[in-house]
Amino acid sequence: MTNEWLLLLEIPLLLALIALVTQSGFFIPLPMSTIRKILKSAEIKRSDILYDLGSGDGRIIIAAANEYGIKTVGIENNHLLYLISKWNVKRYSVSSKVKLIRGDLFRQNLSEANVVVVYLTQRMNDKLKPKLEKELRKGTRVVSADHVFKGWKEVSKIKTGHFYCHLYKI
Ligand SMILES: C[S@@+](CC[C@H](N)C(=O)[O-])C[C@H]1O[C@@H](n2cnc3c(N)ncnc32)[C@H](O)[C@@H]1O
Repeated sequence: MTNEWLLLLEIPLLLALIALVTQSGFFIPLPMSTIRKILKSAEIKRSDILYDLGSGDGRIIIAAANEYGIKTVGIENNHLLYLISKWNVKRYSVSSKVKLIRGDLFRQNLSEANVVVVYLTQRMNDKLKPKLEKELRKGTRVVSADHVFKGWKEVSKIKTGHFYCHLYKI
């Protein structure tokens, strides 16, 4: 995969537009260098299914599908971001590997995931924790950017720019 689409997606103008249309400053995409570190740390196997909970413009699920050849699922409740990620999935020809769900991540069943990536808020992680404990199978890797899952034992902690990503194993 070339980096050209990533450059496009990182145009600040696009983010400003999204913030404007959604009236929310919450969409902060992870840089590709961080995403690559996250994917590497999760020790992805060909049979894995990766979920990104709050998948934004789709960059994590597209990168994982493209670079690791695995199936991925993105859940995004913002309609505009969902449409952008749908367009990106087509554009990078990963439709056969990537499934996009428009909706609330708290209302989706997550039990098929082997790898879960989240870049949410600490409050959302706290709310999400019991759901992950209930639905995820033993051995599932969970990577959380910037925020922790309180009470879980970290497998590793990766420094990425100005914050850490936390890797856990269920
Ligand atoms: C900080 S961004 C991270 C985007 C992407 N995962 C990345 O790392 O580049 C958080 C995303 O979660 C989405 N989100 C927040 N709450 C959600 C919910 N309840 N259900 C689905 N998506 C949600 C936001 O719209 C936003 O796109």
